[in-house]
Amino acid sequence: MPLRNKKIILGISGGIAAYKAAELTRLLVKAGADVRVVMTAAAEAFITPMTLQALSGHEVRGALFDPAHEAAMGHIELARWADLIVIAPASANTLARLAQGLADDLLSTLCLANPNPVMAAPAMNQQMWTHPATQRNMSLLTQRGVQLIGPASGEQACGDTGPGRMEEPATILAAVTAHFGEQQLAGRKLLLTLGPTREPLDPVRFLSNRSSGKMGMALARAAVNAGADVTIVAGPTALPEPQGVKRINVETAAQMHHHVMQEAAGKDIFIATAAVSDYRAADISAQKIKKSAEQIELTLVKNPDILADVSASFPQLFCVGFAAETQDLEKHARDKLTNKRLDMIAANPVNDGLGFDRDDNSLEVFWPGGQQSLPVSSKQQLAAALIELLANHYNKDHKRHASD
Ligand code: CTP
Repeated sequence: MPLRNKKIILGISGGIAAYKAAELTRLLVKAGADVRVVMTAAAEAFITPMTLQALSGHEVRGALFDPAHEAAMGHIELARWADLIVIAPASANTLARLAQGLADDLLSTLCLANPNPVMAAPAMNQQMWTHPATQRNMSLLTQRGVQLIGPASGEQACGDTGPGRMEEPATILAAVTAHFGEQQLAGRKLLLTLGPTREPLDPVRFLSNRSSGKMGMALARAAVNAGADVTIVAGPTALPEPQGVKRINVETAAQMHHHVMQEAAGKDIFIATAAVSDYRAADISAQKIKKSAEQIELTLVKNPDILADVSASFPQLFCVGFAAETQDLEKHARDKLTNKRLDMIAANPVNDGLGFDRDDNSLEVFWPGGQQSLPVSSKQQLAAALIELLANHYNKDHKRHASD
C-alpha cells in the first residue's frame, strides 16, 4: 500500500476525460490513500458526484460556501488536511484560473490555501493545449512548482489528433506514488534509446519495424519519477517525451549510434529499449527505385550494435538491454546478457500478441545469478517495477564499487 495514510484531494474539472477520474479514484483508494474528491461545476456535467462518492467513500465537495460542509470541515481546514492536491483532468480553464491565482470556486481556493505541491494532469483539445495562452499559463504554473503529468498525445474525443489527452489513470497513480516515494535514482544520469530505426532504401522507402516506443517512453517517465536526470535518443515516434527529459531525435541506427556514443560519457545508467535495425541497405539509391524487373535484390550490411559498443566503451555504465524473443526466451536473453556484457536484461515474448504497439506487456528480467518475472500489466506499471528493480541493483553495485 504505497499511499497508506496519504491524504489526497482529487480535483476534477470539466472535460470528457472526467470519466477517467472514477478509475483514478479507485486506484488511489486501492493504493491506501484517503481521497476527498472536489469537483468544479463543469465537471458535474460529465460525471456524477454519486459515482465518486461511492468510489472514494466520502461525500464529494463542490461549492465554496456550503454551510453544511463548512460546519464540518471548512475549506481552509480541508486545504490544511491534504498532503497533496491532484487535479485530473485539469481543463484549460482551471489551469488558467490557477495561473492567475483566482479563488472563485472551492478547487481554486484549496490550491491557494494548501502549502503543498499541486499535481495536474491536463486534458483538452490539442489546439487549446498548444495555444500560446495555455502554454504561458503552463510555464507560469511549472515555475511555481506545479508538477504536470502529461498530457499524452493521440486521438482525441473531439476527433482531433495531437497533444492534450489526459494521461491514463495508471500513469497518474505512478506519478503520485513516486511523489511520496523514495527517489531511488535521485541525481543519477540516465541515457535511454527508444523506438524503431528507419534504414532508407531510396528517397521515399525505408526498412523499419513495429516498435512504437511506448515501453521506452514509459521507462523514461518512471526514471524521471525516480529522480533521474534523463536523456533519450529516440527513433521515429510521435509520442511526446515526459516533462524535463532531454530528447534527441534520430532516424537511422548509425545516427542513433553516433548520438548515444556522444551522450554516454558522464552518464551512470544506459537502457537500450530501441528496436534497432540489425541491417541497413548497402547502397541507398539516390533516385526512387522504379518498378521493372519481376524480382530485385537488396544487399544489406550489418549495423553497429549500439548496446554492445556502449558496454565495451563505457565499462562504468550500468547497462540494461531488452530482448524481444519468439522462442527460448531465457537462453537467448542470457546469451545477450553475457555477449553484450550487460548488468541486466529484460526479455519479453513477442509471439502471443504481446510486446509491440500495445499498452500492456510482461517481462522476464535476468541478471548474472538471478531473475525476476514482472507479470502482465500496463507498460507504465511495468516500467515503474523495472526501474525499481534496476535501481535496487544499481544502488547495491554502486555501493560495492564505492567501497572497493
Ligand atoms: N541493440 C542495439 N543495437 C543494435 C541491435 C540491438 O543497441 N544494433 C540492443 C537493443 O536495443 C536491445 C538489445 O540490443 O536492448 C537486444 O536487441 P535484439 O535485437 O533482441 O538483439 P540482437 O543482438 O540484435 O539479436 P537478434 O536480433 O539476433 O535476436
